[in-house]
Formats: sequence, C-alpha cells, structure tokens
Amino acid sequence: MRIGTPTEVFEGENRVAMTPDSATALQKLGHTCLIQSGAGLKAGFSDAAYEAAGVEVVKTAADLWAKAEVVAKVRPPSEAEVAMLKDGQTLISFFYPGSNEALMKQAADTGASVIAMDMVPRISRAQKMDALSSMANIAGYRAVIEAGNNFGRFFTGQVTAAGKVPPAKVLVIGAGVAGLAAIGTSTSLGAITLAFDVRPEVAEQIESMGAEFVYLDFEGPAQDGAATGGYAAPSSPEFREAQLKKFRELAPQVDIVISTALIPNRPAPVLWTRDMVEMMKPGSVIVDLAAERGGNCELTVPDQKIVTDNGVTIVGYTDFPSRMAAQASTLYATNIRHMMTDLTPGKDGVVNHNMEDDVIRGATVTHAKAVTFPPPPPKVQAIAAQKPKEKAKELTPEERKAQDIAAFKAQTRSQVGVLLVGGLLMLLIGAYAPESFMSHFIVFALACFVGFQVIWNVSHALHTPLMAVTNAISGIVILGALLQIGAGNWLVVILSFVSVLIASINIVGGFLVTRRMLAMFQKS
Ligand code: NAI
Repeated sequence: MRIGTPTEVFEGENRVAMTPDSATALQKLGHTCLIQSGAGLKAGFSDAAYEAAGVEVVKTAADLWAKAEVVAKVRPPSEAEVAMLKDGQTLISFFYPGSNEALMKQAADTGASVIAMDMVPRISRAQKMDALSSMANIAGYRAVIEAGNNFGRFFTGQVTAAGKVPPAKVLVIGAGVAGLAAIGTSTSLGAITLAFDVRPEVAEQIESMGAEFVYLDFEGPAQDGAATGGYAAPSSPEFREAQLKKFRELAPQVDIVISTALIPNRPAPVLWTRDMVEMMKPGSVIVDLAAERGGNCELTVPDQKIVTDNGVTIVGYTDFPSRMAAQASTLYATNIRHMMTDLTPGKDGVVNHNMEDDVIRGATVTHAKAVTFPPPPPKVQAIAAQKPKEKAKELTPEERKAQDIAAFKAQTRSQVGVLLVGGLLMLLIGAYAPESFMSHFIVFALACFVGFQVIWNVSHALHTPLMAVTNAISGIVILGALLQIGAGNWLVVILSFVSVLIASINIVGGFLVTRRMLAMFQKS
C-alpha cells in the first residue's frame, strides 16, 4: 500500500504524522511511503531526510491525497480534506468523532475508512498505539516547563552564600497520563509536589513518584456513577465540596498549579475557582491543561496566557504537543506505525481492516460507507479496578512510641527463641558428632544466621549492589571448594563439585542480570 502524509493545514500545527524513521519501519511492512514537500519542516525533518529514508516527496496536497491509499495525518481533517477522500481509501488521524458528527457522516459517504487515533481503546495491547497518552505525556512535561518559564524562582530549594531559597510547592490536579508526567517532571526538578485525583487507586502511583497524595476528609462515594475503562466519572456534589474546601486550604501555600482533570466527553470540571486564584501568592502560576474543554480554572482563557490583578499567571495553551513538535511527531509517527503493523498482519504491504479486532474496531469511525461510531465496549477491561488503599490512621507521638517498643519486644523475643533452639540443637549434635565436625558446623550455623539477618533487612532498592556482594561470596565459595576437591573422600568431592556448580551459576546469573539492568540505563 502507498501511505502518504500531507502537511498539516490547521493554523499553528507543527507536528507531522510520518518521520524518516517511521517511514523506514513502514517500508519493512511492505508499504511505500509518500510525503508532501515541506510537511516535516516545522518538526525538524527536511525533505532530504525523507528522501534518504526512501520516501517519495510529492509536491502538492492534492497530489498526495490522490496517490496515497492510506493517508496518515495529525489533526482531524478539514472539510476540504474530507472532500478529497475516496472509496477504499483509509484515513488515520485524530478525529474526535463525538464532536465532529457532520464531518464523520461526510467521510462515511465517500466510502473511505477513517481510523480515529483518539478512539484507540485504553487496553494493554493497544498502549503502543495510544496517541492520546503519548501526547498527554508531552503536555504534562511541557506544562511544568511552561510553569517554570513563568515562575520567578527555582523549583528546588537551595542553600547558597547569598541566602536560603525555599523549594517551590507544586499541586497537580488529576493524575492521568498528563498529570503523572507533570508529577515526574516536577519532582525531578526538585519541587515539593502534591497531587490529587478522584480515583484513589492512583495514590500509590503518585507516592511512588515522590509526590504526596492529597487525602480528603470524606466518607462515601467519590463519583456519581461507575468509572469505566480507567477513566473517572463525575464527582458527587458532596465530594466536590470537600475537594474545593481542601483546595481553598492549599491555595495560599502552593506556587504552581498544574490542572489536568478531565472526564471523557464532558466539559472539564471547574476545580480552581476565582477566590482560590485570589488567595494565591503574587508570582504564582497556573497551567490549565484542560483549557480546550473549558478549563479546570474558572479564569482560564483557552489559547492565552493572562496575568490576574493579584499577579497570578494563568496559562491556557491548548497546543503543548505542537510546541514540542520534534518529540511529539516522533511519538505520534510511532503510534501510527504500530497501528499500520496491526493493519498489515502479513507484513506483505496488504492492509486487512479486521473489524473483529478490538483495537481496530474501537478506533474505526467510518467503514464501508457506514458510520461505525460509537464502537461496542471493548471485550477486555482497561485497568482492573483496585480497592482503595485505606488511609493510615494518624498516631500521636505516645502511640507511635508504644508501637515501636512493642515491635522491638516482639522482635527480641523471636530472636531469643531462635538462639535458644539453635543452642540446644548444637548441644545435642555436639554430644554425638566428632570435634572437627563441630568447629565447621558452628561456623556454618553462624554464617547462616548472620547472612539471614543481613540480607533479610536489605531494601529492594539495594538488591543490585547486594547481588555484587553475593557474587564475591560465591567466588570465595568456589575457592574453598577447589581446595577441598582433591581431598580423596568421595563425599567431599561430590559436595565440592556441587558447591562449585551452584556458586558458578550464581556468579554467571548475577553478571547476566546486572548486565540487563545496566543496559536499561545506557543511552543508545
Ligand atoms: P486522563 O483521562 O488520563 O486524566 C484525567 C485525570 O483527571 C484522571 O486521572 C481523572 O481521574 C482525573 N479527574 C477527573 N475528575 C477529577 C476531579 N474532579 N478532581 C481530580 N481529578 C479528576 O487524561 P490525560 O490524557 O491525562 O489528559 C489530561 C488533560 O490534558 C485533558 O484535559 C486533555 O484534554 C489535556 N491535554 C491538553 C493538552 C494541551 O496541549 N493543553 C495536550 C494533551 C492533553
């Protein structure tokens, strides 16, 4: 098939749906690639780079739409672009079918199949095609960078000769893809990061990224209706009140608010009200990622940056991925390439639009002259619902001290018990075994005890260095076994042989695992 990518016609759009790298991968599937001249320029990909990757550069958009059997683009098509679609052709792009019904009908009438990248179901198998997530990831990162650009202070706290600088305090509202990316960026820049989401199951993810989950004093259901497919449902009025109360408490303390709260197919919930903005310190920044859906902040103006009377900057840009066009194009083109891989199961350049496939069916909005949106619910659930983690009860200092003492007593009791049983066993064995055996056996028993005590308490994060230590111990074991292997006694020979074998497996395995772990940190 001929896959073509035109220049984006939407004003200010810098991304492109095909990169030289993705074109190389598409050709391996048996396809040929076309690109409109200049389509990749704003994302940093020249016509020459495409030509070097074996892509045919076509002069005009009309030429491209006429020649390509599959058209891949970023933004939803304009009416003029839909008019260029023809029977049997496939269009892959963002489409937002829920708010583009007329366009969808127009596309269906042409007989073309339209695959909406924003409709790819959020199931594990489809993650590699999840363009909404790859774009939201960029938006979350860029939101923090944009906030930093408008914030007059450091993110991280510093003690310098010129004085002490407090760290910035960042609040991220909504911990979906964009929110988690914002949390990661903010914590890595050193800011104290707080995060809130209506889905309690994300608390663990938030905390694992070094941020603090904002708990609410609230009993009862958080959401009105069931959350589906990993998305939230609207909050109940009581929950919303508790949430706004908490945010009012936080407003005077936080320096930066990144809001990403969204419920699919609804306007963004207003969570940061005018009075909260008024309570914020001058110089604070709000980046409202939900601006396109009306905004989470009451004062957000979509596509604009405004500064309020009390000196709070509110950024409502809706084109963050396009502001990082090279990165966004690379990820989006890879999503498209994966979609093409699923559409070309034979890797022979023949597209099989399999409407039985959950992912292809879910994303297809027009096919065989019919509108196929909305799709039936996916057979596979997106994310298994998890039980909310119980909030740990706050303890008073006295209670904590009593708890520590009780734990220490229990631990001492069990250790004394083990030592007593061990001592008794030793006495029993000592009564029958020869003296030379006993000295070795005592060393062995002590080594087991010390080894267990040392290794059992090592935290998971330190298991890699621990592996290096056990490798060294295995080396000593091999040396000892080699010294014993010529002892003459067949039992000693067998035991020595087994020791060498097991210690060697440990060493080789340790090296292999360490190598794989180090490879994860190597830049290619
Ligand atoms: P998502 O659906 O993965 O995440 C939204 C999160 O908000 C969910 O975790 C949900 O539980 C949470 N949420 C819903 N209601 C809430 C409430 N009342 N309080 C707290 N949390 C609540 O969405 P994703 O992909 O992370 O996108 C986030 C936002 O960023 C969306 O509004 C999206 O349109 C926007 N976006 C903006 C871009 C831009 O350039 N401005 C680019 C890409 C995405």
